[in-house]
Amino acid sequence: MSIAEIFETMEYGPAPESASPAVRWLEERGRTFRHFIGGEWREPSGGEFFDTDNPATNKPLARIAQGTREDVDAAVRAAREALPAWQALDGHGRARYLYALARHIQRHARLFAVLETMDNGKPIRESRDIDIPLVARHFYHHAGWAQLMETELPGHVGVGVIGQIIPWNFPLLMLAWKIAPALAMGNTVVLKPAEFTSLTALLFAEVCRDAGLPPGVVNVVTGDGRTGAAIVEHPDVDKIAFTGSTDVGRIIRVATAGSGKKLSLELGGKSPFIVFDDADLDSVVEGVVDAIWFNQGQVCCAGSRILAQEGIVDKLVARLRERMETLRVGDPLDKAVDIGAIVAPVQLEKITQLVNQGREEGATLWQPSWSCPQEGCFFPPTLFTDVAPSSTVAQVEIFGPVVVLMTFRTPSEAVALANNTPYGLAASVWTESLNLALDVAPKVLAGTVWVNSTNLFDAAAGFGGYRESGFGREGGKEGLWEYVKPRWEVEGKNGGAVRGRDDRKTKPAKADKARGNGAGPSLPPIDRTAKLYIGGKQARPDSGYAMPVYGAGDRLVGDVGLGNRKDVRNAVEAAHKARGWSRGTAHTRAQVIYYLAENLAARADEFTRRIAQLTGDEAGAEREVEASIRRLYTYGAWADKYDGQVHATPLRNVTIAMNEPIGVVSVACPDAAPLLGFVSAVIPAVAMGNAVVAVPSERWPLVATDFYQVLDTSDVPGGVINIVTGKRDELAETLASHDDVDALWYFGGAEGSTMVERLSAGNMKRTWVSYGRERDWFDGEQGEGREFLRQATHVKNIWVPYGE
Ligand code: NAI
Ligand code: MG
Repeated sequence: MSIAEIFETMEYGPAPESASPAVRWLEERGRTFRHFIGGEWREPSGGEFFDTDNPATNKPLARIAQGTREDVDAAVRAAREALPAWQALDGHGRARYLYALARHIQRHARLFAVLETMDNGKPIRESRDIDIPLVARHFYHHAGWAQLMETELPGHVGVGVIGQIIPWNFPLLMLAWKIAPALAMGNTVVLKPAEFTSLTALLFAEVCRDAGLPPGVVNVVTGDGRTGAAIVEHPDVDKIAFTGSTDVGRIIRVATAGSGKKLSLELGGKSPFIVFDDADLDSVVEGVVDAIWFNQGQVCCAGSRILAQEGIVDKLVARLRERMETLRVGDPLDKAVDIGAIVAPVQLEKITQLVNQGREEGATLWQPSWSCPQEGCFFPPTLFTDVAPSSTVAQVEIFGPVVVLMTFRTPSEAVALANNTPYGLAASVWTESLNLALDVAPKVLAGTVWVNSTNLFDAAAGFGGYRESGFGREGGKEGLWEYVKPRWEVEGKNGGAVRGRDDRKTKPAKADKARGNGAGPSLPPIDRTAKLYIGGKQARPDSGYAMPVYGAGDRLVGDVGLGNRKDVRNAVEAAHKARGWSRGTAHTRAQVIYYLAENLAARADEFTRRIAQLTGDEAGAEREVEASIRRLYTYGAWADKYDGQVHATPLRNVTIAMNEPIGVVSVACPDAAPLLGFVSAVIPAVAMGNAVVAVPSERWPLVATDFYQVLDTSDVPGGVINIVTGKRDELAETLASHDDVDALWYFGGAEGSTMVERLSAGNMKRTWVSYGRERDWFDGEQGEGREFLRQATHVKNIWVPYGE
C-alpha cells in the first residue's frame, strides 16, 4: 500500500485522544525507522538503532537509526546535489511546494498531534491546538516569503546546504521553524531531530515525499549528539541552525569558528515574569499557568522567574497555590490533562536534583496535595518562594514545571532583577498601565516581551535571544536574513575573493630605528606619539610603548600608542558609561553624525594629505575623504529611518518589532582605506545607538587618531566612540574574550576571524567577521547600508494584546 493510500484510508478513532492511528502508523512501519536521504529511506551505515520511548509509560515506541559520519555525509551530498535545481526554481515555484507541505500537514494534523504527544509526553490539548497549527502556519507564512523573496530581499541568495539540529521540547514546531524559512530562501537541508523525539520528523519526511518535494531538498538523519556533531563539523555545510542548551550552543560556536559557516543559535533562558501591583490578578494566575506549566515547563522561554511587586505578593502566592491545587497531571493523551509527562527519565532526574538543591539552599517549596501518577516521568507543578536572587533555582534553567518567586519594590528594581541573568530570551510584563509596560519592555534585555500575556508565538513575529540565549531570529522578516547572503559575496565584483591569510604589511616595531629617520625632508619632524582616545579624552597607552607607522615609500610617518589589554578594558568601561547614547533620540544621533560630516569636510584637505602621505595615492586620498563624508551623511540619514515593523500576527494584539542597539559593539577596522574603512565600520553602529570600541587600521592608524579632533568638535558624547590603536589581532583577542562586549565586528584575516569566533563563545557575543574576504569600501552595496544596520541591532518583538 502506498503512503498516499494509507493516508487516504486512515481511520481515526472516535475520541480525539485515541492512540490507535499513531499505533497503526508505527506498526505499519514495523516500528523501525531509517534515515531519510535523497528522498529515500536508507539503512544506517553503522547498523545501529536505539529506542524512542513514550515518557508517559516508559515503554519503547519504535527503533530509530543512529546516524554516523557516513550517514551525515550521504545526506549532505544529497542536499548539495539538490541545491542547484532548488535555487533555480523561482520563488513562486518554491512557494508552491511550501504551500503543499502546509496543506499536507493540515490533512494529517491529528496523526501528527497524537504521535507528538506519545513521543514527547506533552498534553494532546497542546500538540493539537498549539504545536501542529503553528507548524502549518509556519509553512504557509514562508510560502509567502518564497513568493516575495525577489522583491523583498533583493540582491540576496540562499546560503546553500543548511545543517539543522533541534531539541525535544517542540519537536515538529522546531522542525518547521528551521525548515520553512530555509526552503523558502532557496536552501536545502539536513535536519537532525532530538534523539528523544524523532518520530514526527520522520512522518514529516513522508509528507515531503507525498508532496512531491524534489529528493534531497529535505534530508532527515536521526541520532544523538554525535550525529549532531558530525553535521556541525561537516566541511560542506554552509550554515548551522541550532536550538538547544547553551552548553551545546557554546560547543557549536567553537566548533564552527573560522569555518565560514553561518550560525544561528537559539538557546536557553530564565525568563522573568514581572507582576506589578496594579495587574489583573486573575489574568496573572492564568498567565503563570501558561508561562511555566505549558509543556511541563520544558520551554526555552518559560516564565520561570516570577518577579512580583511587594503589594501583591501575598495575594498572588495564595491564589497561585489555590490554582495549582486544581491542575491535573497525568496521561498526556487525556484531553482534560493540564500537565503531561517529562520527556525522559534523565530530564526528570535533572529536575528532581535541582529542586532538591533549591530546598537545601533555603527556599520554601510548595507543591499541591495530590500526587502524580507513579508510572512514567511525571513531576508536580512546583513553586519556590523565599528565593535569593543568586540561588541555583533562581539562576539555572531548570526546564521543568518549577517556578521561583522573588519580589521587588520599584520598576527599576524589577528591571534590574529581570536582567540579573546571563540569558535574554523572553519576558512578560503584567500591569494595567500601558505606560509602565511600554517603559519597562525596552529595558528588559530579551528578544521577546509579552505584555499581559505569555508564550505567544507566530510565524510572522521573530523569536530569538539576547546575550547567552543566542543570536539570530526565527520567524518574521527578521528571521529570513539567517538563510540568505548578499549576492556580491558569491558572484560580486570581488568574486568573493578570500585571502588565505592576513595581508597586513605592518612592520614590527624596531626600537633601533631612529625616530624620523625614514621621513623625507618634506615631512614635518615627528614630535609626538598619537595617544588613544577613551571616554572622550586622549589617553596614554598603559604599556608606555608606541608603534611606528610607515607611509608611502616605507617612510616612518609617526607613532601611535601600542594599546593593550588594560586599555581595551578601560575603553569598554567608558563605552558602558556612555550607554545613555542609546536612550537619546534618533534625531539627536542624526544631528551629531551630520555634524561629524561637516567637520570632516572642513578638514578635507588635511585628511587628504594625511592619507596620501600614508598610501602614496593622492587621487585615491581625495576620493576616500569625499566618500567618507558621503558615508557619514548616509548614516546621518539612516539614524532615524531604520524603522522596526508591526507584525501582522493572527491574534488580537499589536506585535511591535523594534530594532534595538546591541550595547557595546567593538569594531576591528579594515587595514585598507584607513578613513573610509573606519567611518564605514564604526558609524553605523553609532547611528543605531551603540557605544563603540574601535581598533583602527593597524597599518595606517594615524588617520583615526587625526579623527579625534573631528570627534571633539562634533558633540559626540565622551565614551560613544573609543579608539584603541595597536595590534589588531591582540586587541581583538581581548575584545572577543571580554564579557562586557556585546558584539564584535572583525574586518581582517581568516586566522583572526577564527580566533574571534572561537573566543566569542564565552558570553556568546554576536560576531561579524570577514574571513579575510575583501570588501570594496567604495562600493555602495558592499560598503554601506542595511547589512550594517542589521548587524548593529537586535530585533525585539513586543506583544501588546488589546480588547477586553
Ligand atoms: P541538547 O542541547 O544536548 O540537545 C539539543 C540537540 O542538540 C539534540 O538534537 C542533541 O542531539 C543535539 N546535540 C547534543 N550534543 C551535540 C553536539 N555536541 N553537537 C551537535 N549537536 C548536539 O539538550 P538536551 O541534552 O536534550 O537537554 C539538556 C538541557 O538543555 C535541558 O535540561 C534544558 O535545560 C536545555 N535545553 C534547552 C532547550 C531550549 O530550547 N532552550 C531545548 C532542549 C534542552
Ligand atoms: Mg520519545
